Amino acid sequence: MSSLTITPKGPLRGTVHVPGDKSITHRALILSALAEGDSTIRGYCRGEDCLNTLSALQKLGIPIEIEPDQVHVSGKGLWGLTEPAEPLDCGNSGTGLRLLTGVLAGQQFFTVLTGDASLRSRPMGRIVKPLQLMGAHIQGRKGGNLAPLAVTGSRLKGSDYVSPVSSAQIKSAVLLAGLFAEGETRFSEPLQSRDHTERMFRFFGIPFDVEGNSIRVTGGQSFQAKDLFVPGDLSAAAFFIVGASIVPDSEVRIPNIGLNPARTGILDILTEMGANIQIDNQRDESGEPVGDLVIRTAPLHGIAIGASQVPTTIDEFPIFCVAAALAQGKTTVTGAEELRVKETDRIQAMATELKKLNVAIEETPDGFVVQGGSSLQGGHCQSYGDHRVAMAIAIAGLTAESPTVIDDTDCIETSFPGFHGKLLELLTNSN
Ligand code: S3P
Repeated sequence: MSSLTITPKGPLRGTVHVPGDKSITHRALILSALAEGDSTIRGYCRGEDCLNTLSALQKLGIPIEIEPDQVHVSGKGLWGLTEPAEPLDCGNSGTGLRLLTGVLAGQQFFTVLTGDASLRSRPMGRIVKPLQLMGAHIQGRKGGNLAPLAVTGSRLKGSDYVSPVSSAQIKSAVLLAGLFAEGETRFSEPLQSRDHTERMFRFFGIPFDVEGNSIRVTGGQSFQAKDLFVPGDLSAAAFFIVGASIVPDSEVRIPNIGLNPARTGILDILTEMGANIQIDNQRDESGEPVGDLVIRTAPLHGIAIGASQVPTTIDEFPIFCVAAALAQGKTTVTGAEELRVKETDRIQAMATELKKLNVAIEETPDGFVVQGGSSLQGGHCQSYGDHRVAMAIAIAGLTAESPTVIDDTDCIETSFPGFHGKLLELLTNSN
């Protein structure tokens, strides 16, 4: 198990390229596999999460050729997947397992989906229940709430599902299942979650309707392959955005970042806290907004975040806690109880680990209270096997008075291979 030692240093300077968007890569791989013909996906995320989805699709009979910066997927059409000879291991990825379960529920064969210890402890009832309402036959541990999941493909019927949770993973599992269902499938959620699946449906020419936070799709519509471009992952960029904001005299350029408004909560919140974030060269790529970011150090102040801001910022709370720790004044987060069922319980993990660095942070059932502005001390921290916790603590460590050791950092590979090297490069540029 590897560990990372962060020696306090700064400023961060230069240009850094981050991996392709993880959410978009999962969807690009899955929809290209279901399309008729060959697609090339440029800029895909080579993190382990997406590579696990890629290899699951290969086991489902889809030829995929891998190159460093692009993959070629030979789509076999809506009904072209074949029964895998072994369980599909989704590793650490909730997105991979939940979206693939949606696809596999409507097939004519049997599949088992599983993952690592973290994924096997995360709630799956949230997708199993709506899929069962469509006629899916899915079994799993704890009455179907925990993976491994055994899916006996069956003829699905469209349904009208109102989700109690705003979640793009639930929405996407249901909409993907809807492609194989008889009739119309409708999904509604309280607040809009990220809409990458809908945007990619549009890009591939799959018709659907949107009405507020409800989407309707009709099953059985085949679609043609298309080449796709995946922008850089804003959730990966967020570590350098906060790093450049809090480490004095920094200036970092991050080109080619996905700026889907359902994902840009962290930019809005940091800007409101006083961050200096410039967006250049805004454009559209494969149906997603993209731009180049330039971040310069700026004094931050505390802020109050409520439930309505949570979906657009959901994966950025670990690094947001670090920004709050370095901001002057009090920050509160409420309505973020979903953080307790991510790769780890991120509320507990961030509160426990930042306290070790002398941050005044207290957890609440659905968020945090951070009293910012105290000097950070180095410490010995744990990642809990969660990539975003590991990277957030690494950025906090840059501003501490002594080195910080983070244990169990192999998990960074799930989304951001090369993270530490890129961080060191930005620090070296300042010499
Ligand atoms: C994702 C959706 C979010 C997010 C996850 C990726 C996706 O999860 O936290 O990292 O790609 O659909 P939820 O949909 O469960 O909120």
